[in-house]
Amino acid sequence: MAGEAGNLMKNKIEERPVRVKIDNVIKKYNGRNGEMVALNGVSLDIHDNEFICVVGPSGCGKSTLLNIIAGLLEPTEGKVYCDGKEVTGTGTERGVVFQQYALFPWLTVRKNVMFALEMRGIKGKEAKEKAMEYLEMVDLGKFADSYPKELSGGMKQRVAIARAYAAEPDVLLMDEPFGALDAQTRTQLQTELLETWEKHNKTCFFITHDVDEAIILAQRVVIMSARPGRIKEIVDINIPYPRTQETKMTQEFIDVKNHIWRQVYQEYLEVRK
Ligand SMILES: Nc1ncnc2c1ncn2[C@@H]1O[C@H](COP(=O)(O)OP(=O)(O)OP(=O)(O)O)[C@@H](O)[C@H]1O
Ligand SMILES: [Mg+2]
Repeated sequence: MAGEAGNLMKNKIEERPVRVKIDNVIKKYNGRNGEMVALNGVSLDIHDNEFICVVGPSGCGKSTLLNIIAGLLEPTEGKVYCDGKEVTGTGTERGVVFQQYALFPWLTVRKNVMFALEMRGIKGKEAKEKAMEYLEMVDLGKFADSYPKELSGGMKQRVAIARAYAAEPDVLLMDEPFGALDAQTRTQLQTELLETWEKHNKTCFFITHDVDEAIILAQRVVIMSARPGRIKEIVDINIPYPRTQETKMTQEFIDVKNHIWRQVYQEYLEVRK
């Protein structure tokens, strides 16, 4: 029965239009030790309102792939399309939360978030109020007038998340956004992200090292192989939403976690060879 429901869910995803098409992307870097292949032929269709998580060993090219989708990096070969148009740079429909928070140090927390709103043409009092709403979402209302340097790493990351939400992109590209957070805050932000995703019809591409997090969030988990990065396997997560802490106790969760963990571990061993 569970399998049947899962298939229905999967069919529904595949019937939806493709928001982001990654077509045979190769990325080579010219590093200190000559040319290095970071991505070696990655293809993936990300459908409208889909939630994808990407896992894989450190250095396998996850951030590289995200930056290419964001339009911040150019592929060496292959192409990325968003809504059928080739990606040649950044676009307001694609919002990014970077692996390392990228805040404007000269602006207060509130003004950092207001920046994203002003980019959307929201100004003055409305921008100020909306910025507060997004800051409350990440539990930082009390720090609106602080500067980034006065915050901890996790708090800065939450400001970056609030700013990304405030930009209201259709496609959210998130690079280990909750990596620096304590377990409670992380759980809270996972729940809020899932609510935002469902309510506002977002398409999410989310990188994480945490297999539990990937399974709690995603409809499909993409496992990447050790460098040069390729897609090793795509695992459908057919567990119905809302997913909670209790979900982690279910046999279905444990089975899929064991499977993904083993696959990632194999790749980790490859890196160490
Ligand atoms: N600008 C660059 N110049 C040269 N090499 C780079 C550059 N950026 C990344 N690389 C290399 O490309 C490979 C992939 O890097 P990337 O940051 O995409 O990995 P990742 O999967 O995001 O790793 P992590 O999980 O540690 O964040 C690494 O070997 C890295 O050293
Ligand atoms: Mg990375």
